[in-house]
Amino acid sequence: MVSFSKGHTKDRHPSEGLTVVDYAFAFLRALVIAGGLIWLLFHPFPPLMRFNLIYIFIVFVAYSVVLQFIVFMHPERVEKVYLAALILDMGFIGVFIRLSGGFDSNVFLAFYILAALHSFYYGLTKGLILSIAASLTYMLVVFDQIDFIVWTDMVLRLAIMFVIAGFLGFLSGKTRHDREEILKMKDEMTSLQGNLAKAYNNLQDVKRQVEQSEKLASIGRLVAELTHEINNPLDGIKNCLNVLTIEKDDAELRERYIALMQEGVREIEQAVRDLLEYAKQHEFRVEPVDVNEVIRRTVLMGEYKFNKQGIRVRTNLDRHVQDVMGDSHHLQQVFFNIIFNAIDAMPNGGVLTVESRKENDYAAVEITDSGTGIPKKDMEKIFRPFYTTKKIGEGTGLGLPISDGIVKRHSGKMYVYSYVNMGTTFRIILPTKESYDNILGGYR
Ligand SMILES: Nc1ncnc2c1ncn2[C@@H]1O[C@H](COP(=O)(O)OP(=O)(O)OP(=O)(O)O)[C@@H](O)[C@H]1O
Ligand SMILES: [Mg+2]
Repeated sequence: MVSFSKGHTKDRHPSEGLTVVDYAFAFLRALVIAGGLIWLLFHPFPPLMRFNLIYIFIVFVAYSVVLQFIVFMHPERVEKVYLAALILDMGFIGVFIRLSGGFDSNVFLAFYILAALHSFYYGLTKGLILSIAASLTYMLVVFDQIDFIVWTDMVLRLAIMFVIAGFLGFLSGKTRHDREEILKMKDEMTSLQGNLAKAYNNLQDVKRQVEQSEKLASIGRLVAELTHEINNPLDGIKNCLNVLTIEKDDAELRERYIALMQEGVREIEQAVRDLLEYAKQHEFRVEPVDVNEVIRRTVLMGEYKFNKQGIRVRTNLDRHVQDVMGDSHHLQQVFFNIIFNAIDAMPNGGVLTVESRKENDYAAVEITDSGTGIPKKDMEKIFRPFYTTKKIGEGTGLGLPISDGIVKRHSGKMYVYSYVNMGTTFRIILPTKESYDNILGGYR
């Protein structure tokens, strides 16, 4: 296959094959042969001279064919073949000059082609060496005409050759240098890209760990509350057992109390199971999620705290809300954090309203508390990592930034409205199944 990438390097690997330069060389040789043929046929040569020239020309054509054959058969040896060809070409030009009139012949122009091509191919130094060799050949060929040579013409002819070789050699050297620079830059870019990808992966890992530790920190606080939640049904069970020990023979009572105890055990089981489920680390997975169900589950987890702090809960979940495309565990983490922030903002009781609404192809969730509110100056800080107004051990300040990240991952948006001493509303908009596919850049 023809490639544009080579032409200058010293060692060509066998697998690299021929380059566009090699094909250009072959084409130029064919052109020279065609031009030479026209020159031989139409230039007014004396008959003997034409005969001699045709004879040499045939040898030149045969040599050219063999040369191209070797080049095409052994692309890996192309550099050496070109060097040998260069010497032979110079010899041929010398012979043609000699046979077609020496210093008066125009064939010396062929040296220009040779100098131009090879200085471009091999670079400045070799181009200049070639020009010196060509000059010597030329002078050797016309040496016996020394008395007739016009030296100013001679100097001009050779000078032009050096200018051509110098200019093209410099140009090719610059091209080569630029290309090497580009290749170097490309290599650096590739390794940089690799490092960046690695760093990104590490960052993702850290992010996951931070998300998880934030969750565990909030659970730490929840567990303390859970003990009370377990204690209530446990007290009930204990009561039942006491009564049953005394009233052993009352079959109806026994049945009723056993049912009550079973209910208590189920409550404990459920509370523990919910907590364990929430604590687990989950990979982010996109699937249809019933947001109302996630909200219900999360509200249940705060039940003990609501009772303890005298918080009334109003839930108003729109059953027309369609499934959201996302991850229920991650969404639960968002609702959990916002609801528990609301609880923290109402230490002396209040009202918590949790609403969901279908808004076109989106699900809107609004969680409103009647708590302390957030001062305007702190509004932009609350999404910053580690910003917290809570006591050490009570808040890490990661809840909202993580929640915001999760909402964004769902291609959703989170808004906050707050009035000091009146309360705060967190509004979350999430695309439902219908709109999810139309969102450009949606997380998949
Ligand atoms: N509903 C709210 N009412 C008043 N202030 C709030 C409310 N929600 C959040 N804030 C303020 O935003 C801060 C940051 O909240 P965020 O959830 O990020 O961290 P945190 O609750 O302090 O700690 P963590 O959630 O990690 O336990 C809170 O400390 C609080 O000052
Ligand atoms: Mg929080």
